[in-house]
Amino acid sequence: MKKFYITTPIYYVNAEPHIGGAYTTIAADVLARYHRMIGDNTFFLTGADEHGAKIEKAAEKAGKTPQEFVDELSAKYELAWDELNISNDNFIRTTDENHIKAAQNAMQRLYDKGFIYKGEYEGLYCVGCEQYKTEKELVDGKCPDHNIEPQKVKEECYMFKLSAFQDKILELIESDEFKISPEERKNEVLSFFKNNKLSDISCSRKNVKWGIELPWDKEQTVYVWLEAFLNYLTGIGWDGRSPLLPRNWPPEVQLIGKDILRVHTTIWPAMLLALDLPLPKQLFIHGFFLVDGQKMSKSIGNVIAPGDLVKKYGVDGARYLLMSATPFGHDGDISWEKFDEKYNADLANGLGNLVARSITLAEKMSAGGIKLQKADENFQFSIFNPSASSGQVFQTIFNFQFSIKDMEVENVLKAFQDKLSLFHLEKAIDIINLQIKFLDSFITAVKPWEMIKNNDEQIGKVMYNILERIRIIAWLVWPFMPQTAEKIWVSLGLDLKEEVNKKFEQGVKWGGLPENIKVKKGEVLFPRINSTEL
Ligand code: MSP
Repeated sequence: MKKFYITTPIYYVNAEPHIGGAYTTIAADVLARYHRMIGDNTFFLTGADEHGAKIEKAAEKAGKTPQEFVDELSAKYELAWDELNISNDNFIRTTDENHIKAAQNAMQRLYDKGFIYKGEYEGLYCVGCEQYKTEKELVDGKCPDHNIEPQKVKEECYMFKLSAFQDKILELIESDEFKISPEERKNEVLSFFKNNKLSDISCSRKNVKWGIELPWDKEQTVYVWLEAFLNYLTGIGWDGRSPLLPRNWPPEVQLIGKDILRVHTTIWPAMLLALDLPLPKQLFIHGFFLVDGQKMSKSIGNVIAPGDLVKKYGVDGARYLLMSATPFGHDGDISWEKFDEKYNADLANGLGNLVARSITLAEKMSAGGIKLQKADENFQFSIFNPSASSGQVFQTIFNFQFSIKDMEVENVLKAFQDKLSLFHLEKAIDIINLQIKFLDSFITAVKPWEMIKNNDEQIGKVMYNILERIRIIAWLVWPFMPQTAEKIWVSLGLDLKEEVNKKFEQGVKWGGLPENIKVKKGEVLFPRINSTEL
């Protein structure tokens, strides 16, 4: 059995969750659900980054102890992810006792191996990034990501020998052994490596008390990024010491936003190389959400909370809108107007309407005593076209391909899987929508309601094809909108437990729909939205 270990960054719990973090988390969830569905041994890790100056300050501002503060906020993150139906296998908190011990063990190991030495560091520190910045990186003296002036920091600390790993990391990135996707991000990193020399970095802080103590010098706490990286290992049970690694290591993919690409391609691989551990197979970098053209940020006041989306569009609506908002890997502009439009077009009028009209037809058919009849996906049949002129009987041959090869189930499934293996989430969604449109226009062209009225002997087969296609579409929908897919199976009269226990390969096999099902009209899947107001 193949394994699939996927991670998100751990989120700073200095403020309530917003949809930037929800975006990475839902994307990871879709991929984790997809890999479970195809039978891979899957582990999905997310969590909270709870130490450091940024959190310490936020807690102070809130008049709370850092521990009280992170307890409250981490709980809000977990709740937000629950509300979005996130299927993470663990939620790591960096204040967990196991993480603290393991991080200390790993730091000790780096120290014992000679990769950490005593020094002094002077630089410009951006608390927002929790990183030292070079003059070159600042715009008008401010950090461009946080729009704040960094603080001058000069302190005694321990240094990590990052400079020792430049050549090795470059080689691993160039050869794709440590793959960076999409390609333009890889090129960006390569050009950084070719034009800059990595310097050693400060890996401890004397003046930050809210952190993990260095085991050999209790005066200092571990630099928050170093221990944060270790979450990817401690979150699957590594103790920081044992040469025996957890069986999920290394990750097949780590999803990150573009703002944390540099640290993930320098400090992170260097730590792993220093610890003699295998590197992740791949980093996938996504872009930013922009709201009405501006970066979503608290200072601008355009932050959207995941709960706001769920309230308006439902859990699956929220998941769908975030996943389809922008090509995964690129920045994208989002707005309530765009969300409303897309929700109505793709979900209310698209999938929701297709399922509702098909179930109504199947109910009518069964009320008329007509039974479903299994048929091949490409079976051909003729229909009477009443709009033909001069009473002429027009025989139109339809088959379910509409002569478009791409509509054959096997091709559709292959294309869908290809897109997901490349992390083209929005393209996988396009494939689903194309199927929905195809089936919808098929129904409009064939007019099964007239076939029912005319007692057409082909109707049992025609309806079988429609419902069977819907059952298969639900399989593609499942990782993106789990509840919706399950509701569809239930309205098709299927035994939900049986359906969800099938492996994908078996589930999407043509003919899985029994002829004797009793369809049930469920609630409206996606009620239309009329206003742009919340
Ligand atoms: N704690 C660090 C990560 C440590 S991982 C070892 C951190 N946390 S964060 O909360 O600031 O950001 C977490 C993730 O959310 C990043 O990948 C970031 O890119 C993403 N997003 C935050 N705002 C975003 C948008 N507006 N749009 C899309 N994602 C963005 O960095």
